[in-house]
Amino acid sequence: MAEPPSDPLQRPLPDGIVPEEVVTRTENRWVMIMAAMLAVMMAVIVVTSVAGALHSSSNVEVVEPLTLHLGGEFVESNLGTAIEPDGSATVRLIGEQYDFVPHCVRVPADTPVKFRLTSADVVHGFLLPDTNVNTMVVPGFVAEVRTSFAQPGEYEMPCHEFCGLGHHAMWTRVSVVPKDQFTGQGPLERTRCAKQ
Ligand code: CUA
Repeated sequence: MAEPPSDPLQRPLPDGIVPEEVVTRTENRWVMIMAAMLAVMMAVIVVTSVAGALHSSSNVEVVEPLTLHLGGEFVESNLGTAIEPDGSATVRLIGEQYDFVPHCVRVPADTPVKFRLTSADVVHGFLLPDTNVNTMVVPGFVAEVRTSFAQPGEYEMPCHEFCGLGHHAMWTRVSVVPKDQFTGQGPLERTRCAKQ
């Protein structure tokens, strides 16, 4: 008499195959590890945002990207660093394929600095390494970021939003000079950096 066909699920496992309970236990452990990592990453985002004063924009300012050069705040003669009556600095920049205008800006150290940026064409990115400055530069909108530089120094300013074939070459510079060496910026001076 032939043996009845055995249930394949009930057969003893051949050597080398891990039983289901062990697999489940391992998978549960990994789920908990992943959940813990997510919790840590969320906590890092919240803590660094608060401690590093990283703010998303609280206002929406629009600007017409096609006529930036014709008038208004971002006309060429108004770009670069301007010193406000209260002593703070405002830097206005335009991002365009593939450069920032002006190509280099000078700002005083130990002074509140407000960057105001917009784009003439596509989305660019503005980032100053080791500072809280990091924003997207979107055509049609004004991005504003505030910071201050404790020490004089040079900051490379890479575009960090892919903006086309020349994206990798879109670098400019923020030159931070000691406060007492920052002289009044004439219309020409404010859009170019001191010769190195
Ligand atoms: Cu501009 Cu990338």
